[in-house]
Amino acid sequence: MTPQAALSPFDLVIFGGTGDLALRKLLPALFHRFVEGQIPAGTRVLGIARDVIGDDEWRARAQAALERADGAAGTDALDRFLRLLSYCALDIEGVAGWDELARWLAAGEGGDRVRVFYLATSPALFAAACDGLRSRGLIDERSRVVIEKPIGRDLATAREINAAIGRAFEERNTFRIDHYLGKETVQNLIVLRFGNALFEPLWRAEHIDHVQITVAETIGVEQRGAYYDGAGALRDMVQNHLLQLLCLVAMEPPATFDADAIRDEKLKVLHSLAPIDAGNVAQRTVRGQYRESVPPVPGVRAYADEVGKRGTRTETFVALKTEVRNWRWAGVPFYLRTGKRLPERVSEIVITFRAVPHSIFDASAGTLSPNKLVVRLQPDEGIKLWLMIKSPGPGGLRLRRVPLDMSFASAFGVRQPEAYERLLLDVVRGNPMLFMRRDEVEAAWQWIDPILAAWDADDDAPKSYPSGTWGPSAAIALIERDGRTWHEDAG
Ligand code: BG6
Repeated sequence: MTPQAALSPFDLVIFGGTGDLALRKLLPALFHRFVEGQIPAGTRVLGIARDVIGDDEWRARAQAALERADGAAGTDALDRFLRLLSYCALDIEGVAGWDELARWLAAGEGGDRVRVFYLATSPALFAAACDGLRSRGLIDERSRVVIEKPIGRDLATAREINAAIGRAFEERNTFRIDHYLGKETVQNLIVLRFGNALFEPLWRAEHIDHVQITVAETIGVEQRGAYYDGAGALRDMVQNHLLQLLCLVAMEPPATFDADAIRDEKLKVLHSLAPIDAGNVAQRTVRGQYRESVPPVPGVRAYADEVGKRGTRTETFVALKTEVRNWRWAGVPFYLRTGKRLPERVSEIVITFRAVPHSIFDASAGTLSPNKLVVRLQPDEGIKLWLMIKSPGPGGLRLRRVPLDMSFASAFGVRQPEAYERLLLDVVRGNPMLFMRRDEVEAAWQWIDPILAAWDADDDAPKSYPSGTWGPSAAIALIERDGRTWHEDAG
């Protein structure tokens, strides 16, 4: 989003260096930037974990992960990249390793390097890691901390985490990752809305009938059952990714293209969301849990079997309806849905405009469909604007719905960077625009908590849905009751 400013050499310390996030996401992201020449010589990366291994073993694990990620095997770039990596065995809650970390940091050439402390660990260790860094004087003016979700499991625990981080790092040096904000099309949404005069006059209740946000996955919970079963789709996806997307669609134009100006506007949206609580949760939400496919597909098991917990009430699917209660959006429903083991992997935002006030066409010409703007995040990032045209050719006037279709991959032929590539370098640059501010995270929990409480108080379990379907039929009823349907890409 910012121009590619040249970077000075920096130090990146990854707590949780032997973990999945570090090996599967962070190192591959850094490696791509390295290959593209953006990681300056002299940059150093330190992996930290409890495992008592040495530099060579960590490099070997990193190499294996990078080869799996993009077949970088045997390249000269890979060898040069691996030389940036060192390892330090450290016990975050104990004393072992901290002196070595201090020595490693002190050895960085030039006193003004940016230090990035990436806490790729369980959130239970965030406070101890921050306290350890602070009490040993390892945090300086140019130090930044990066944390990942889950930032709490409700408002109270999110506040505890934020307070622990806040004791060590100033807010401007705290980078809370929501990797959806690093996706290319998410940023494009900001440009689409505020870089074109075309949409803004229409971007309001007078012209928009409703908004849909869908984030569908085909995968199940994979190896993350222990975490996921304590979280569920509402905490795992809606509290962060889907609400962030909703904010970008609904926010007012910020005064400037500045991180806080944008985050202030997003915060106002979160504060304007119509509450869902025990009084309306049954009408406004649907939760589901996947079971085996029908007919069975080898390897696709019911969620409860996957996590080994019969009777678990964790939801793997959520659909909900809310509103943004302000002048722009009064009365416009926002339908959100997300789930695992759905028929396809697709994330998209669909803005459906109002129907024409009066049709001049005969019924024999066909029916008019409302215009839709579809912003597709994945796969095949792009934008489609659905319009009505006359069906080409002879045979009388027939109406036809067609998309103006722009796929970014085919239009520009450039590799779309992974979200982490952009986000990691934004931390180094000190650009917090695509990160969640403390008040945003807390406002999102404030809205989510009453839903969780209402579900907890409810005797009903999530409705089961066969793997490979679009969730429980109640999710279809949720939108069809309002005379609308979930968008299906028929083009
Ligand atoms: C993560 C969730 O934040 O996002 C996962 O914890 C989910 O459960 C993932 O699978 C989806 O991310 P993406 O980028 O694959 O859409």
